[in-house]
Amino acid sequence: MSFIELKQITYQYPLDEQPIMKDVSLSFKKGKVYGIIGNNQAGKTTLCHIIRGFIPAMFLGELSGEVTYKNKSVQDYNIGELASEMGYSSQNPFTQISGVKDTVEEEIAYGMENIGVPPERMQKKVQELLHLFHLDDLKLKNPYELSGGQKQRVALAAVVALDPEVVILDEPTSQLDPKSTEEVFQIIAMLKEQGKTVIVVEHKVDLLAEYCDEIILLENGCVLKNGTVHQVLSDPSILEHGGSLPQVALFYLQQLHQMDQIPITMAEAIRKLKGVAHV
Ligand SMILES: Nc1ncnc2c1ncn2[C@@H]1O[C@H](COP(=O)(O)OP(=O)(O)OP(=O)(O)O)[C@@H](O)[C@H]1O
Ligand SMILES: [Mg+2]
Repeated sequence: MSFIELKQITYQYPLDEQPIMKDVSLSFKKGKVYGIIGNNQAGKTTLCHIIRGFIPAMFLGELSGEVTYKNKSVQDYNIGELASEMGYSSQNPFTQISGVKDTVEEEIAYGMENIGVPPERMQKKVQELLHLFHLDDLKLKNPYELSGGQKQRVALAAVVALDPEVVILDEPTSQLDPKSTEEVFQIIAMLKEQGKTVIVVEHKVDLLAEYCDEIILLENGCVLKNGTVHQVLSDPSILEHGGSLPQVALFYLQQLHQMDQIPITMAEAIRKLKGVAHV
């Protein structure tokens, strides 16, 4: 059964003269982690909005083609139903805060309140999430007083709180330090273990290499590459199209480039690598 399917999606924003997404067809399987990469303005956020059903509902414009989730058009789901199935954390953590809650604790509970989770279960879940996202010390703070990185963690906790089937994260680590970034990826791994499907827009390819199953490279609103993490992140041609390669892959390619002769025995290979890398 297809899980999330995009069929020949073309989309034009209301005041634009030409489409920003052009004939995009993609298929997402249940339980896999997908990384979306590409230059600024490549259309990564727009793609997330299309999958999540915000386009055309909220942004209007002209959408052709079809997006289906569990074999039903995303447009045919009611808003509440889709919101509880697909969690979404936006690129800008500042717009992600609800604005109606006074504390971090209440902010995380807000979505659960809306869908009628019983108070006792909600409290337990909030405490678990405060702990998981290292927010215990901030639980009584006003969400607006938090730093960008702290807001980002609260926004992510609020998404995870709703236990959605699909989690769409648009640059969830852009404001985070390396340690918190790694922790976000560990949470992504935890979500995968729970059978969730994760779609993450992210520039940090070293982490994508470790945690993703598949990578989609967008350029100018088109899918330029789409394949297993290994296929895409070991392909030097992506460097010319807004993609980047993990450090290890770059190092390896550099070594190959500098070798006058391809080694044919293990000893020769080690000698050559040592020679080139001065290790
Ligand atoms: N609401 C909007 N109305 C009109 N055009 C828009 C709107 N949002 C985005 N665009 C345009 O669509 C194109 C793709 O933008 P999008 O934000 O999807 O790219 P992105 O890959 O997420 O970029 P970034 O890396 O900067 O987040 C850009 O040319 C942008 O100017
Ligand atoms: Mg974006």
